[in-house]
Amino acid sequence: MCGIVGFVGQKADALPFIFDGLKRLEYRGYDSAGIALALPQGIAIRKSKGKITLLESVLGSLPPGPCGIGHTRWATHGRPTDQNAHPHTDCHGEIATVHNGIIENFQELRAELIAAGHQFVSDTDTEVIPHLLEHYGGAQDLESAVRQAEMRLKGAYAFLAVSSHEPDKVVAVRRTSPLLIGLGKNENYLASDFSAFLAATRRAVAMENGDMAVVKPTTYQIWDAGGHLVDRPVIEVDWDIKQAERGGYPHFMLKEIMEQPEAWSDCLLGRLDGGRVVSSELGLSNELLSHVSRIQIVAAGTAYHAGLIGKAIIERVVRIPVAVDVASEYRYQEPVLEQGTLVIAISQSGETADTLACVRMAKEEGRVTYAVTNSVGSTLAREADAVVYTHAGPEIAVASTKAYTTQILVLSLLALALAQSRDMARPELVQMLRELPGLGHEVLERMDAVKTMAEKLANNHDVFYVGRGIDWALAMEGQLKLKEISYIHAEAYAAGELKHGTLALIEEGTPVVAIITESTLAEKTVSNILEVKARGGEVWGIVDEKLPSTLPIDHRIDIPMRSPLVSSVLAAIPLQLLAYWTAVTLGKDVDQPRNLAKSVTVE
Ligand code: AGP
Repeated sequence: MCGIVGFVGQKADALPFIFDGLKRLEYRGYDSAGIALALPQGIAIRKSKGKITLLESVLGSLPPGPCGIGHTRWATHGRPTDQNAHPHTDCHGEIATVHNGIIENFQELRAELIAAGHQFVSDTDTEVIPHLLEHYGGAQDLESAVRQAEMRLKGAYAFLAVSSHEPDKVVAVRRTSPLLIGLGKNENYLASDFSAFLAATRRAVAMENGDMAVVKPTTYQIWDAGGHLVDRPVIEVDWDIKQAERGGYPHFMLKEIMEQPEAWSDCLLGRLDGGRVVSSELGLSNELLSHVSRIQIVAAGTAYHAGLIGKAIIERVVRIPVAVDVASEYRYQEPVLEQGTLVIAISQSGETADTLACVRMAKEEGRVTYAVTNSVGSTLAREADAVVYTHAGPEIAVASTKAYTTQILVLSLLALALAQSRDMARPELVQMLRELPGLGHEVLERMDAVKTMAEKLANNHDVFYVGRGIDWALAMEGQLKLKEISYIHAEAYAAGELKHGTLALIEEGTPVVAIITESTLAEKTVSNILEVKARGGEVWGIVDEKLPSTLPIDHRIDIPMRSPLVSSVLAAIPLQLLAYWTAVTLGKDVDQPRNLAKSVTVE
């Protein structure tokens, strides 16, 4: 959680760069924001509670400088106030720090520093860092102070520090929370993710866990946890900045929904050959694939819902048992991980703390871990034994859309690759995958009816989503999308479960979204719909277009389904748009819903 940005250059243009970077990282947290410049006359700071736009109004009086740091906050310790906003400074205003993550032993350190005469002004855990640096002489020798302070800090975090006495460097530490060094010309950058400096460079170095770096305008040095000077590989992304901007859409979420057909093409690019999947492009050898006897998927939120669909696809295509668990639960369950189990961690950001914990646990058990992620250079990508990228491009809206559907596609590819490794190739499914981007465009063109549906849905307090099989998994994602951005209470049920309790909640006019893309289960779901309608419920159907026009549904959206094994992503589009338009109708902050952040790097 939280986004951090650093700049060090030869010209005095740190301020506009950092401000721009913070705007791009605002999805990581938007409770407060701030910028500090290291100037010879001292640290100059401006910060403000609320969104970046509020910070902008106080930046005007900040003098220019060549070195600085910035922060956009998602509050953990201390309420979102001006005082708790980062950057934080030492007692004399000579050192400033920004921090992402949690300092677990901050109370003990704070008490010790207060006893030594330091004055604290915030409730944050972060503020112990600049005071600790001051304690170790950081104003004059920041690098050495950071080394000493590092040994005292416990927790999972990343931080940047600058000193007014050394305005030619930013010192950075990464312990678990993500941190990248962007490589520019006569200037270098630091940020929690690529999008902050994508306008300036596509080249970066991902700091590893335990690394400390000293970054200057034309050089950077990195030391590992053992204090050895190390070379970390330079990574290059092919995203352009337009991909990270809204591209003319009113919200990132809408843009990201609309660009799904392209994202699917990118995700499939180079991974299909005739009637086969190019297994090597998935990051796993044929040898390994052929020895997988079980799969355990771990993930959170939307990624978990993608995992549920992955389970159905893999089990049906290749008959390997798949378990799917929410990472925050799985890590504490003392799970049994049998020999031959492939542990798949799905995460758009590659930084979700619980998902990473599961991967570490599985590695300790000696199991092969496999990351399905969208983020090049993320912790998950680097820690898992193998990685496959979803290639969805930057996803900025907090509500995940294109990352979700590309995760499902990658899991379909994996199912087909597993099948091939067992001489069970399914060329007809490979062909259907090829058709998906075209069908995606077709679905997007038919979506006017969803807007009308949303305008009606917006008047309700409760909405139910039902389906069977893969449609149940889709229903779970549909309800999460609606909840997180419209704040309407929504719940998903396996259609056959309604009569075991929830049916009692259905009354005249209660909206029920029924998903029927599994045509073999259609008849069963229709019986459940009739039960709903008999109690006065109003049914909104997202259905396979081949199903009869006589289905007992009040409002119907048709999907050009081929097979649920590969086409479920098409049905995700109306579910995403239904949530989107409902939130827009209600005037909600679609891209930055309350209480949420894009990347959850704390437990
Ligand atoms: C999705 O709309 C959510 N914002 C959230 O559930 C998200 O999918 C979850 O936090 C997992 O994130 P990850 O994919 O980056 O691990």
